[in-house]
Amino acid sequence: MLSLWKVSKTSGVFEHTKNSLLEFFSVCKSFGGVKAVDGCTFSVGNNTITSLIGPNGAGKTTIFNIISGLTKPDYGKIKLLDSEITGLPAYKIAQAGISRTFQLTKVFRNMTIRDNLLIAKKASDGEMKSALARVHLHKPLDMAAGELSYGQQRLLEIARAVLREHKLLALDEPTAGVNPQIRQELKAILRGLKEKGNTVLLIEHDMEFVMNISDEVIVLNEGRVLKRGKPQDIVKDKEVLEAYLGK
Ligand SMILES: Nc1ncnc2c1ncn2[C@@H]1O[C@H](COP(=O)(O)OP(=O)(O)OP(=O)(O)O)[C@@H](O)[C@H]1O
Ligand SMILES: [Mg+2]
Repeated sequence: MLSLWKVSKTSGVFEHTKNSLLEFFSVCKSFGGVKAVDGCTFSVGNNTITSLIGPNGAGKTTIFNIISGLTKPDYGKIKLLDSEITGLPAYKIAQAGISRTFQLTKVFRNMTIRDNLLIAKKASDGEMKSALARVHLHKPLDMAAGELSYGQQRLLEIARAVLREHKLLALDEPTAGVNPQIRQELKAILRGLKEKGNTVLLIEHDMEFVMNISDEVIVLNEGRVLKRGKPQDIVKDKEVLEAYLGK
């Protein structure tokens, strides 16, 4: 098993980053005839904001589901620091330190903010307030989550992910359906999380947002990594533009 990693490092196909937190190597996942993830290799640097972008159906959420243990890969390996987490059940992966949010909100609207947070972890009011402060959500714990705006509910989900002990925060389209003001706020929130030592893996469609916030961008297309690089290089890449806009 170890040799796979060695081969990958010397072959040049897999750019091993010394400082990587998560490594995803040659991962494949098909649903019937659909190759959702088709041999993906990438790494996420420790204490970075790394964005996973690509057209609809590129395989982004499937990668998140594989990383978080909701979907088992057909092939490949995933490592979090020195531990291999490939195929582990979701709760083990959560315990290992991957904390995620979902593309569609999973907030319980008829429950209080406190109870929504307690789903993640048994925590004190102080810990919960501190998690809310990290996402700039200054609301009472007793408030019903349904009284929050949609954007604030998305922030609550991030607070829930932050509250859990984690090494990696994986956020699936946190800005989707969120108003421009909270969208701007989210940039500051993510930067603040990074400053506190967090590593963020982000799925995002808003290019302006991605280019503004990311240390590294990974472009997926049809289940494969099309490009990987700094935002300023990705934004002017011909192949990337073609993948998005067509030739
Ligand atoms: N559980 C599933 N069963 C069957 N097909 C699936 C399943 N999950 C994903 N797919 C298919 O795999 C491909 C990748 O889907 P995925 O949701 O990962 O894309 P995505 O990049 O997150 O897209 P979007 O930007 O629209 O959220 C799509 O063709 C999708 O229809
Ligand atoms: Mg998706």
